[in-house]
Amino acid sequence: MTFEFDVITLFPEMFDCITKYGVTGRAEKNNLYNLHTWDPRDFTKDTRRTVDDRPFGGGPGMVMLAQPLEKCVTAAKIRQEKCGVSDTRVVYLTPQGRTLDHKLVKEFSRLSGLILISGRYEGLDERLIKQQVQDEVSIGDYVLSGGELPVMVLIDCIARQIPGVLGDPESASQDSFVDELLDCPHYTRPESYLGNVVPNVLLSGDHDKIRRWRLQQSLGRTWLRRPDLLKSKIEQGITIEEKELLEEFKIAYGANKNKVN
Ligand SMILES: C[S@@+](CC[C@H](N)C(=O)[O-])C[C@H]1O[C@@H](n2cnc3c(N)ncnc32)[C@H](O)[C@@H]1O
Repeated sequence: MTFEFDVITLFPEMFDCITKYGVTGRAEKNNLYNLHTWDPRDFTKDTRRTVDDRPFGGGPGMVMLAQPLEKCVTAAKIRQEKCGVSDTRVVYLTPQGRTLDHKLVKEFSRLSGLILISGRYEGLDERLIKQQVQDEVSIGDYVLSGGELPVMVLIDCIARQIPGVLGDPESASQDSFVDELLDCPHYTRPESYLGNVVPNVLLSGDHDKIRRWRLQQSLGRTWLRRPDLLKSKIEQGITIEEKELLEEFKIAYGANKNKVN
């Protein structure tokens, strides 16, 4: 079944960025997912197509009106129902939400549709969030001018999980964060670049050696850069091979560090 995204946004044209280019562009053309946009301005009645107003209590900025957004959500739900989506969720992208991570991406990608709201200005009228939104998701502890980029980030991550989207189905399973590890380093031609040569093992043709080297690099990088992830991997259960490879990495790293110092 095709994954259905319904996006509520004041700037529908921005979504050309994902539907026209690269992996996500190809996937949309091949109907591996559909993206439909809804502009709250199309659900207003006044000639100025007003979608925002001043905040009660005063203060800077404007707030998005609940009513046009609610009409968008209703229209999006009807469209998703017509497409056969029975498990959709309404998600508001906001810096105040749960931080997006691989676990949440996997959770969402098990559904068959999502309704995603991009905020603007100071955000949405709180009552709309209370009544219509099931999940609030943030893409990090910083504030952007609008929810369009966060919505695109979420769609891109989910699209990568849809079977058939990536040329090689193994790509997604080897990415960072799968299995609580960072990805290993990658190299391509030429074999020597500015005096730096590709690790010999990658030229050996020995598939098991290459697999072990890559696993060791992933473990080592995660140890160095994301000890929090490694801790969670160890808690979930690390194999004897992984344990040995990590110990070996730590010893080699320590020896190299001493050499440099
Ligand atoms: C200028 S921001 C509003 C920020 C809001 N006043 C606050 O401090 O929580 C406008 C819109 O951008 C989006 N946005 C900004 N930063 C975001 C983030 N880190 N993650 C997800 N969405 C974000 C939200 O949709 C938000 O409604």
